Parts: sequence; C-alpha cells; structure tokens
Amino acid sequence: MPIEIALIGAGTMGSGIAQLALEHGHPVRLIDLDPAARTLARATIEERLARRLARRGLSGAELDGTLAETLGRLTIGADPAEAAGAPVVIETIVEILAVKQALFARLDEITPDETILATNTSALSVAAIAEAAARHPTRVVGLHFFNPAPVMPLVEVIACPGTDPGVVAAVAALVASWGRTPIRSADRPGFVVNRINRAFTIQALRQLEAGQAGIARIDAAVRAGGFPLGPFELMDLIGIDVNLAAATGIWEGFGRAARFRPSPIQERLVAAGRLGRKAGQGFYRYDLAGGPLGPAPEFESTAERDGPLPNAAIVERIRLAIVNEAYRALEEGVASDEATIDLALRLGAGHPEGPFEWAHEWGAAEVRARLASLAADDPDTFRPAASLRRSVETQPVR
Ligand code: NAI
Repeated sequence: MPIEIALIGAGTMGSGIAQLALEHGHPVRLIDLDPAARTLARATIEERLARRLARRGLSGAELDGTLAETLGRLTIGADPAEAAGAPVVIETIVEILAVKQALFARLDEITPDETILATNTSALSVAAIAEAAARHPTRVVGLHFFNPAPVMPLVEVIACPGTDPGVVAAVAALVASWGRTPIRSADRPGFVVNRINRAFTIQALRQLEAGQAGIARIDAAVRAGGFPLGPFELMDLIGIDVNLAAATGIWEGFGRAARFRPSPIQERLVAAGRLGRKAGQGFYRYDLAGGPLGPAPEFESTAERDGPLPNAAIVERIRLAIVNEAYRALEEGVASDEATIDLALRLGAGHPEGPFEWAHEWGAAEVRARLASLAADDPDTFRPAASLRRSVETQPVR
C-alpha cells in the first residue's frame, strides 16, 4: 500500500493534490480549519474523480465501485494534529508567511523527526518557512505544484541550503511516481517558472498600458506564435487577483525591480471586482457558462486603441523579455542548466519551446542585438543579461 499523504489546506491546490494522490493509490488525510472548505473539497474531489473515471471508459457498477474504493482512502479533518501519522505532510494553506510559519512550528512539534514537511508556496522563501520548524528544519522542502494539480505535469522541488538531500530525493521520487516531472529550483522568488514567465503577462500589460496594441490583437498574435492562450485570456482564466498577488510577491522578492512592477491596469480591475472569468468580467466579458463574449468595453478594439505595434513585434518582445529573464535566472543558479529551464517552461507554462531553444535558434548575437535595440525604452527588462553578453563575445553568431 502506498504511504499516507497528509495535506493541510483543502482549497484549490490541497484538493487538487489530494485527488492526484488518491488516483495513485495513497490514503490521503485532508485537513482544513474551515468547515465550508472541507465540504467543498470532498464534493469537488468526488465529482472530478467520477468524471475522470468516466473518461477512462468506466460506467455503472464498475465506476461506482472504483469511486467508492478511492474515496474510502480519503479522510477529511480539521486539526493539523491528525497529520502526525503520515510520513509526508504537504502544506497548501494561505500564502501568508506568518501563518505558514505558525503551522510549521506546530508540525515540527507534533510529527516524528523523519516526517517530511513540504510547502506548496508559490512565492515565499522556503528557508523562512523551514526556520519555523526549529527542532528539525532539514526535513522541510518546497514542492511547488501547478494548478490544476491533477493535470499539470511539472512540479518544482525546492531545497534550502540545509535541506537533507534524502528528503529532496524522496519527494522528487514521490511526485515522479504520480506521473509528474520534478525539476530542481533554488529558493529564489518565483522559483523557475513563475519568475521567468512573469514577462508573459507583464510585457503584454506594458504594451496595453503604452497604447501599442489592444488585448484581442495581443492574444491572437501570441496564440498564433504557438502559445496555448494569450496573456489576457490567461489572466482572466487564472483570476486577475491571483495573478496580481503572484506578480506583487515576485516584485517584492526582487526588491521592487522595475521589470516586475505589477500593472496599474490589473490593480484597477481587481479593485473593481473584475477578477476575470470567475467574476463574469475581467479583460473580457463572459456568459453564465463562462463562454467569452468579447473584450470588456474599455478594451474593445478601436483604431486608436489597437496601437501601432505589428503582431510579430508583440510576440517578439514578450519572447525576448522571457529569454533575458531565463539568462538571468541561470546566472543566479535558480536551475542547474538550460535544458531544465526549457523543460520547466514547456511543462509548467505550456510554451511551445523553451527560452534557450528560441535563443539558440536565433543565435545569441541576434538575441543580444534585438534586446539592445529595446533597452533604451525599458532597460531593466531588455538590457542583455551579463551571461548573454559574454556568450556573444566568446561565441559569435551561430
Ligand atoms: P485557497 O485559498 O484555495 O485554499 C487555502 C485553504 O487553506 C483554505 O481552504 C483555508 O481555509 C485553508 N487554511 C488557511 N489557513 C489554514 C490553517 N492555518 N490551517 C488549516 N487550513 C488553513 O488557496 P490555494 O490557491 O489552494 O493556495 C494554497 C497555496 O498553494 C498557497 O501557498 C499558494 O500560493 C499555493 N499555490 C497556489 C496555486 C494556484 O494557482 N492557486 C498554484 C501553486 C501554488
């Protein structure tokens, strides 16, 4: 029998990871202090499991039997003390450092030393969370799943300098046994994917802010470039509030560097409750079933609003900003090599190619020249990364 997995926090991520672990045969203990969250989590997991079993061709008594067996391994509770018997505890509560630290301090007291304590934080420092587990911080590790967890193939595994390598290997093997691809990331804001892919939405917002192009044209150009969704469609889907919180966390994490500055357009939409598809309106308007009805009035295309930036330039600027950030992340040792970053952006963000794959197709000299041509307008984003400048000097045009 696979080991028991405890999840603390039964919201979007906790219930998604619980479903994934249940599907792979684990007994799962899902804990949340909010009774409404517990009820919703059980209903959501049951409905999604049933849907997935039906998609696998199961029906009638066979579906009912498998569903009952799977749900029979799920226990839902209120008190983190119930997690004490599980060899792996994954924390998926609110993204507030003090709240996570209080939980890890408690888990450190109530669990045996060998219990692995993982956090699904998206932007907080794993080291700061590990410090709270003062008795035995070396068993704390970051395990960053993407939403929706039962579908997204990538998991970032984040070790602090003090993390026990055995703990890192164990959680990587665990998520690999769930069919996920683990990659290693250093404990830096946004880890690999959320940091490098920040430019995907921020560059699009900058183009909109500057009146260079409208949302529908940017989205269409980006999709034509091979991305599964345009940046405005993506923000509406994940929630403009969620995207703004991630953007703000990373901006703060990088000492408010200009290239990560969140957009005032997003702040305005969040303040107005226009949070995207879940609110019926964001950049686009949606019908009751969540179907898009076209841009919200202020973002509708007009000759003036649709701006002068050609479609090719829209996509090129977004790609260049991503590529430059990928070089910076590699310089800082966020990932060990180019191939890991390429894999992470393909699996974690659905990019058609990784940033280094693009860079090598164009050639480092060309990438550097195109970045340099944009750097006057926005130096923090486009000034070529130091390693890119060096690679051009040592290895001219390919
Ligand atoms: P959520 O708001 O859907 O769920 C959080 C749950 O934790 C709530 O049900 C809340 O009642 C519960 N909770 C809060 N404090 C608690 C405590 N002390 N003890 C027990 N339960 C507690 O949040 P979501 O979106 O699931 O995020 C959870 C974590 O995962 C956050 O750290 C977030 O940054 C991270 N994350 C979120 C992603 C997303 O797309 N939603 C993607 C990857 C990571």
